[in-house]
Amino acid sequence: MFSQDRPYSFHIELTDKCNAGCPMCSRTKELDRCRPNLMKVQNIELTLADFQAHFTDDFCRRVVDVDLCGGLGDPLAAPQCLEICDHLTARGVKVSISTNASLRSTRWWTKLGEYFNRTGSHVEFHIDGLADSNPLYRINTSFDKIMANAAAYIATGARAEWHYILFRHNEHQVLEAQALARDMGFRKFVLIDTIRFGARERFDYQMPDGEHRSLEPSVHDGAYFKARFADLPEASPEASPGSLGPEIPVETTDGEGIVCKSAVQNRPYINCEGYVSACCWTAGSNEELQTLDLAGLRRSEFNIRHRPLAEILAAEPFVSHFAQAWLDGSNPICQRKCGQMIRNKRHAIPGAG
Ligand SMILES: C[S@@+](CC[C@H](N)C(=O)[O-])C[C@H]1O[C@@H](n2cnc3c(N)ncnc32)[C@H](O)[C@@H]1O
Ligand code: SF4
Ligand code: SF4
Repeated sequence: MFSQDRPYSFHIELTDKCNAGCPMCSRTKELDRCRPNLMKVQNIELTLADFQAHFTDDFCRRVVDVDLCGGLGDPLAAPQCLEICDHLTARGVKVSISTNASLRSTRWWTKLGEYFNRTGSHVEFHIDGLADSNPLYRINTSFDKIMANAAAYIATGARAEWHYILFRHNEHQVLEAQALARDMGFRKFVLIDTIRFGARERFDYQMPDGEHRSLEPSVHDGAYFKARFADLPEASPEASPGSLGPEIPVETTDGEGIVCKSAVQNRPYINCEGYVSACCWTAGSNEELQTLDLAGLRRSEFNIRHRPLAEILAAEPFVSHFAQAWLDGSNPICQRKCGQMIRNKRHAIPGAG
């Protein structure tokens, strides 16, 4: 599924540490004051040494971009996040960071902006509302600190995007937040429809001070707001976020209509333990373990601390076993995520910057 002949586009989880406790995040025990779930969180991280070992000068020539996001933590909570960004951008790699942005000093953010200017890298600021509403989801974050960090970073000229998950409690502030984003110099404002309510009408949680609250889905979705913003001029002619990029003829699909996002983008996933997976959706799943079992492979063979990254990517199960599972229809995660396209939806709002 991954090709050595096309540039790689990695998705990497630097750490499972985080300063925040978003109720719907899988690291959070939402009914226990949004404390971290220590059955999942090990408080570990990838280090600069890991990147020096695998993202060498030579290997970086084959990497177009690295997305520092992940499933369980915030990249800024990794002690060597800045050094890793320096290492990658100095080797010509474009980096993107997804963060709640409430960590680190303004000096740190200025340095990050300087590094990011080398390659046109960007930060996705995940800010779901304004001063009164953002902390209702981004538990334990400070809106003032986020704004100061964003201002210091944007002042360097580096690219910033404001990403906003829609809830009932913040949908009345979309226009105000978009205007603030534009005035501050964010280049893009993106609304996100979450799928994490499933069929539920509410999601109960407990604030750190013990107060019980509920999240509710927004009445309007991102498409509704996008239509309301439609008369504003488009900020930039880029593809909408989440699009699969230029069409490249590769083996990514099967008769069931599964188009593997990772194969199209040549985008392996590495988690904070160093394990390499097909994507963040299959990482650590029973389906992944079964695929390895059926192929007679041990999980430790897929860890960059045990084996060179380039060698892992060129071997099974990535050569044929995933493609076979698409054909057999035997991987329910692939069917759901890349067959039925059950994913969060993103809407880039025109005129943001
Ligand atoms: C585990 S976070 C890691 C990155 C970083 N800590 C952050 O929150 O941006 C991965 C992604 O999940 C997103 N996320 C958190 N809660 C969500 C929700 N209820 N619906 C959709 N996406 C959500 C975050 O905004 C982020 O883009
Ligand atoms: S900021 Fe990101 S990693 Fe931290 S709790 Fe929220 S969604 Fe999870
Ligand atoms: S869920 Fe399956 S098909 Fe989709 S990106 Fe991951 S490995 Fe590919």
